[in-house]
Amino acid sequence: MAFATRCFVRAASSAAATAAAKKLIVKHVTVIGGGLMGAGIAQVAAATGHTVVLVDQSDEILKKSAKGIEESLKRVTKKKFADKPEAGAEFVDKTLKNITTSTDAVAVVHSTDLVIEAIVENQEIKNELFKRLDKFAPEHTIFASNTSSLQITQLANSTTRQDRFAGLHFFNPVPMMKLVEVIKTPMTSQKTFESLMDFSKAVGKSPVSCKDTPGFIVNRLLVPYMAEAIRLFERG
Ligand code: NAI
Repeated sequence: MAFATRCFVRAASSAAATAAAKKLIVKHVTVIGGGLMGAGIAQVAAATGHTVVLVDQSDEILKKSAKGIEESLKRVTKKKFADKPEAGAEFVDKTLKNITTSTDAVAVVHSTDLVIEAIVENQEIKNELFKRLDKFAPEHTIFASNTSSLQITQLANSTTRQDRFAGLHFFNPVPMMKLVEVIKTPMTSQKTFESLMDFSKAVGKSPVSCKDTPGFIVNRLLVPYMAEAIRLFERG
């Protein structure tokens, strides 16, 4: 190998190593919102060895979320461990042990690496939540929203950690759907972006990178596709 090529290769691999060293390895996740999406996200994170706190507004809702997660896990396990039911039961047990619940987001974010918000699709309510949590979450914690239609930049602007803020858009049903859109705003740091790409892979998903643009990728393609289907139907 020529000297210049060798130098280039060495410099490139050392730059990659430095970037990798700086990435945050997410171990502890706080999921806010125990509805359809939040429960699914908590399930896949816990099933892949992360410790998860699932937060919602009441114990009653959280009980329902936990029951839903247990049933979903049992369905997944039935297929995955078809001929090893004991190993399946152990997997369900282990996964459920990784999940705790809380109605107090502020009290649980103090030790989390990643907050994933999956609450009601309302800009003001999400902004208010992020603004509040920003004061209590550690410096290194990344904030992510699972919103389908709100601008990530506007949500990030409700915090002082715009560089540690991104979109993490899962699809329904979360345990089945492989795709995750990792949405970067102009302020999202490379470290945050790469940490979220790694986290998505760690929970068994196939992440794609996307800018903060209306509809992101899938919904942006889906809406004109569906409109065309309606037009075709109308034309007989
Ligand atoms: P959902 O209505 O099933 O669940 C929302 C949960 O958030 C409820 O349990 C509610 O009690 C809780 N919640 C509301 N305000 C809260 C607060 N301030 N603190 C804590 N918990 C709160 O909604 P879903 O369908 O799970 O959607 C959640 C988010 O995910 C939305 O932003 C939505 O746009 C997005 N999304 C939804 C998809 C879907 O197919 N339903 C797909 C991808 C993203």
